[in-house]
Amino acid sequence: MAIRKVGVVGCGLMGSGIAQVSAQAGFPTTVREVSQPVLDKGLGAIRKFLQGGVDKGKLAAADMEKTLANLKGTTELKDFVECDLVIEAVSEDLTLKRELFGALDGVCRPDAIFASNTSSLSITELSTFTRHPERLIGLHFFNPVPLMKLVEVVKTLGSAPAVVQDASEWCRAIGKTVVTVGDSTGFVVNRLLVPYMLDAIRVYEQGLASRDDIDQAMKLGCGYPMGPLLLGDYVGLDTTYSIARIMFDEFREPRFAPPPLLKRMVLAGRHGRKTGRGFYDWSTNPPS
Ligand code: 3HC
Repeated sequence: MAIRKVGVVGCGLMGSGIAQVSAQAGFPTTVREVSQPVLDKGLGAIRKFLQGGVDKGKLAAADMEKTLANLKGTTELKDFVECDLVIEAVSEDLTLKRELFGALDGVCRPDAIFASNTSSLSITELSTFTRHPERLIGLHFFNPVPLMKLVEVVKTLGSAPAVVQDASEWCRAIGKTVVTVGDSTGFVVNRLLVPYMLDAIRVYEQGLASRDDIDQAMKLGCGYPMGPLLLGDYVGLDTTYSIARIMFDEFREPRFAPPPLLKRMVLAGRHGRKTGRGFYDWSTNPPS
């Protein structure tokens, strides 16, 4: 295993999940946030998830302690100096990512692997932000990271085969199944999932069926774990809107165009679970 020490930039929804599964698989993992309060919030979410696992009898208390011992929180990028793999899971902002990869170039060894968890930005473009574009790939995880079994490993035209192989091996070592995909906006999962979610919003917008009936239809009719409107709330309607805009910009196909209702819900601050209100009201009882 070429990868021994792992760094994760960002301890939000995705970054905290990635750091958790890495530490849980026994890799010394450093996770960085911009400030101590934000870091504490992310580490708190990891502790809560692990404790939930212990309470459900899915995880031994000793394994929770081992996981936490493998995890180090920091607000300093310089703490990534010994990392073999650094995964960024910061906001989908190209300027921010450009600055980040530039700074990581100054800190990390030249043979370190850089990865992005971006769901929609071009890995090829991100790779131009480092001095070693052949060493940057996409590692696209799914929410909730500790429960979802897949990682899309995204390679560019210039990716070094050894980097793709080492990163894929690490994904398998943390218990994920790997699919290898080319660098096209949305990769495979979002390319298929996002138009489906947008269509569900269009069906609701057109009054074809109620929110609950649309969700029940896809849950019970197709065996999906949750309906598309609930999934939108779960992923974040702001995130869904942003991905749709980037995909529409790339492909110019109407199926990727965000429906007017989605735009208005985002403008109204109804971003789903994270803001307490989306298609569902999450402020009291979470929907089931
Ligand atoms: N620790 C350990 N295990 C836990 C746990 C914890 N803290 N919490 C839950 N689990 C286990 C449960 O015990 C259960 O295990 P079992 O199947 O062996 O009984 C399993 O995880 C499922 O948990 P629950 O029964 O509590 O919850 P649900 O059955 O309702 O499943 C869900 C929750 C996994 C979120 C499911 O609803 C689901 O798969 N939803 C779809 C999620 C999805 O599609 N995600 C992808 C979004 S797209 C994306 O992320 C891409 C991005 O770019 C937008």
